[in-house]
Amino acid sequence: MCSAEQASGSLGAMALPAFHLDHAGLKAWLQEKNEGRLQTLWSEADRVRKARVGDAVHLRGLIEVSSHCIRHCLYCGLRGPSQELVRYRMEADEILASAQEAFRLGYGSVVLQAGEDRGLSKEFIAGVVRAIKRDTPLAVTLSLGERDDDDLREWKAAGADRYLLRFETSDPALYKRIHPSLPGVPSDRFAQLHRMRTMGYEIGTGVMVGIPGQTWDTLAADILRFREFDMDMIGVGPFLPSPRTPLGGPDISTFLAPPKEQVPNDELTTLKAVALTRLVCPDANIPSTTALATLDRAQGRELGLMRGANVVMPNVTPVEYRVRYEIYPGKACVNETAAACQGCLEGRIHSLGRKIGKGPGGRYSNAV
Ligand code: 5AD
Ligand code: FES
Repeated sequence: MCSAEQASGSLGAMALPAFHLDHAGLKAWLQEKNEGRLQTLWSEADRVRKARVGDAVHLRGLIEVSSHCIRHCLYCGLRGPSQELVRYRMEADEILASAQEAFRLGYGSVVLQAGEDRGLSKEFIAGVVRAIKRDTPLAVTLSLGERDDDDLREWKAAGADRYLLRFETSDPALYKRIHPSLPGVPSDRFAQLHRMRTMGYEIGTGVMVGIPGQTWDTLAADILRFREFDMDMIGVGPFLPSPRTPLGGPDISTFLAPPKEQVPNDELTTLKAVALTRLVCPDANIPSTTALATLDRAQGRELGLMRGANVVMPNVTPVEYRVRYEIYPGKACVNETAAACQGCLEGRIHSLGRKIGKGPGGRYSNAV
């Protein structure tokens, strides 16, 4: 169970600042500037990570199976109206080959991710999931956006283990503004997450840090939602403006909250959000995100892993496709082959005194 007590309990004896992980406490920590107190936050997040999920860093091979998207999210470079993007959809045998590559590289799971693409039919994805489960021992995570229960049930029956769907923000008005609904279909990602859990999926979610219009109160409330939903996986990365989108264009200032309230999309704030997420959800799988690695190529990945994260999602999409999966520009590792990325990551993980996780690395098998 996600909890606040874990984090505060051990600190009492050390006479360090208490970790009051209620709304006001989270908001204060997110705005904390004092170096000494931040060191306390970093070391407590790292201690809780080690105690609860261990030193293993689980690698999930990310396969970006399609860049088609029917949605108009104001932040996402794949949004349907981005006409200049050359779209692709991988064939089933290409997806399977990428999954096999992930397995050869020693990864325990793959994530099939795409824009919201109705060209990825229920039957097609079910067939791909069955083939991956037949030919490899990989856990399969799907991240295909908002889909019907019928599709989700079929994919679970085909063997899918987990589903990732970031709720992006817990503020309903901000969500509506940046994530327009499809005509006549209200978007309720919390409801979908809840239904997927009852279907037997491990569920993952997350938010971006510093979306225009996100206030300190909103981000504190987001982190509390992680706890309330007892999320299994939680991705928190910086918002990176894409010039193809309304939130990355010249009108960005019209979306910003007043300066004192607007959360910056910087590395420090993202790391605070990652560390606090670890404290409120000590058992969750938390990736050190590609967006963070993009913001700080030198050491973003490592800093995430040192401040609460225990998962990395290296890209195993064929390079010719992945350069076209441009959610935001300048994505880290975009031109590296899967094997080169694996070598690089292994070095980075070992340099932190950590080890590569073996096996699927699910929420309830993390100590492996
Ligand atoms: N910057 C950072 N992250 C983004 N995402 C979408 N657009 C951006 C962006 N401009 C994140 C969303 C989505 C995930 C797949 O990528 O949170 O859920
Ligand atoms: Fe497609 Fe955002 S516009 S996922």
